[in-house]
Amino acid sequence: MDFTIFYFSATGNSLEIARKIAKELGDCSIKPMTAQVPGEPVGGPGESVGFIFPVFYNGLPRLVKRFAERLVINPGTYCFAVANSGGTRANPLGMLEDILFRKGIRLSYAEEVKMPGNYIVGHQAPSSEKVRQILGDANVKVDKAARAIAGGERKPVIRKAELWSKITNRSYLYKNINKWDEAFLTTGKCTGCGLCTEVCPVCNIKMEDRRPVWQHNCERCLACIHWCPCEAIEYGKKTVRRRRYHNPNVKIADIKRGCSCENI
Ligand SMILES: Cc1cc2nc3c(=O)[nH]c(=O)nc-3n(C[C@H](O)[C@H](O)[C@H](O)COP(=O)(O)O)c2cc1C
Ligand code: SF4
Ligand code: SF4
Repeated sequence: MDFTIFYFSATGNSLEIARKIAKELGDCSIKPMTAQVPGEPVGGPGESVGFIFPVFYNGLPRLVKRFAERLVINPGTYCFAVANSGGTRANPLGMLEDILFRKGIRLSYAEEVKMPGNYIVGHQAPSSEKVRQILGDANVKVDKAARAIAGGERKPVIRKAELWSKITNRSYLYKNINKWDEAFLTTGKCTGCGLCTEVCPVCNIKMEDRRPVWQHNCERCLACIHWCPCEAIEYGKKTVRRRRYHNPNVKIADIKRGCSCENI
């Protein structure tokens, strides 16, 4: 069986999971969702497709939703998905399956993993000790899932809190999403290095006079704020003095490779 994993990752958690599963599967390529050319078919006999992504507001990130809606996939393909979050009890996998179902696909294997939460706008990221503990627990779960997927096992989606997930996720998707980035600002710590422009998965940041300027097409992934090497980005006053986070096993170069504006 040939495996392809599509992932979306802002702070590296999803990418770490994708890599671990790919290692166990062997013949597996990993591809950022942003790199998939619209209209290019995937899956089919002898091929398996995986989706690995973070939970945003109890559901799918807009970028993942758009990717799944546009995906051309052969019906009957063995598909698996791993959603990861700070530990929410919600229905992201059900939402993904609802989109795939219209293309003749059911998720054969669906898993959720708790990872360090990166929603710095709402709360502080965990301490490094807590991060180690969460990643240790996640490792065990991901290894188990990887072995099961390699063995073609089945684990259907368990739908949870469907209505609540739908309402909260919809309010993110449709309520002023593009203008959300108006609250980003840079402090005097900004050196004008431009790294924030390179980690943005949708090229929503442009440099003007050696300062980042947000272009109002934001996915809210928070990669820019977490990866800025000078901690020079704030989201209004909400993020001041809050700890930044990125997965300790993922480098900024890996995140940059996941950014591609041609297919957005
Ligand atoms: C905009 C946004 C919304 C989020 N919403 C939730 C949520 O509803 N529940 C939750 O447990 N975690 C939530 N998170 C945390 C992420 O799902 C979690 O940290 C994930 O592991 C990040 O993956 P990544 O490092 O691959 O980007 C949210 C993060 C962001 C950036
Ligand atoms: S990454 Fe940080 S320091 Fe570099 S340009 Fe962006 S805001 Fe400024
Ligand atoms: S501007 Fe920042 S939060 Fe918005 S999509 Fe780009 S990296 Fe993510």
